[in-house]
Amino acid sequence: MIRHFLRDDDLTPAEQSAVLDLAEQIKAEPFRERPLAGPRSVAVLFDKQSLRTRLSFDVGIAELGGNAIIVDSGGTHFGRGETLADASRVLSRYVAAIVMRTHGDDRIAEVAAASSVPVINALTDGFHPCQLLADLLTVRQRCGGTTGRTLAYVGDAANNMARSYLVAGATAGMHVRVAGPAGYDPDPEIVATATAIAAGTGGSVQVLRDPRAAVAGADVVATDTWTSMGQEHDGRDRLTPFWPYQVNKELLAGAPDAIVLHCLPAHRGEEITDEVMDGDRSAVFDEAENRVHAQKALITWLLRQEAPK
Ligand code: CP
Ligand code: NVA
Repeated sequence: MIRHFLRDDDLTPAEQSAVLDLAEQIKAEPFRERPLAGPRSVAVLFDKQSLRTRLSFDVGIAELGGNAIIVDSGGTHFGRGETLADASRVLSRYVAAIVMRTHGDDRIAEVAAASSVPVINALTDGFHPCQLLADLLTVRQRCGGTTGRTLAYVGDAANNMARSYLVAGATAGMHVRVAGPAGYDPDPEIVATATAIAAGTGGSVQVLRDPRAAVAGADVVATDTWTSMGQEHDGRDRLTPFWPYQVNKELLAGAPDAIVLHCLPAHRGEEITDEVMDGDRSAVFDEAENRVHAQKALITWLLRQEAPK
């Protein structure tokens, strides 16, 4: 059966754990899996900018024995003149998997519905699930596991990273707290989904206003930009309400043992200070590296789910 990875809850808790186990093995032995040997190709499509996602998929696909075809939307018919479904049917004839970074989740859903190969979400307005696999791998390695650990996300609690932390963190059995200013709370439907998942994994979900309450005693403190791609001209004040949520030394005093995560790119001096980014509790560069290992594991796992031909 073709499996897609469009949202964090497309993997059950057991499946997420299996992908992370495989990622740990691949990190220890980078060339142990060669599911794309041939080489088979993977299409990696971008409707938004990227550094880490672009490079980490390119590197990872090469290390799996395959060939990445990286396409920026401006150079294709994707989404103009040709339906996404038609383009997806064509790509399915060429490649072993489709990786896509785009705007609305409806766009990647349309691609997946028409695809006969796995489709992987490389960031949408709604979710960033590949980033969360890398983050959870980092938490496993820095905190000795995910189950029962507390993750506090502070900042724009309405954005794709906050939503993915809620859903993926709950799937991993974590206690997830998110805190942002009024007007930047997560979608209640996502909170309900994460809460239901947490009920089965022993985790929990809390939406808070006070950043100090969110980080108190946390094992992991995470943040993200206050202005996501596509929000640059949305007319909202994306600085003033967020200053109390800056991850700085004072805020971290409430979580003396926490590691710090940021998916990057960071806006130093806004959501995170230089001192924290460059400090010894920062795990952000391990986190960026782990994109490669986690995505190699994900591709390997998804291809294993296909019915034998
Ligand atoms: N974290 C992340 O997805 O970075 P890029 O936007 O550079 O791909
Ligand atoms: N929330 C950010 C994440 C970037 C990796 C964005 O969507 O721009």
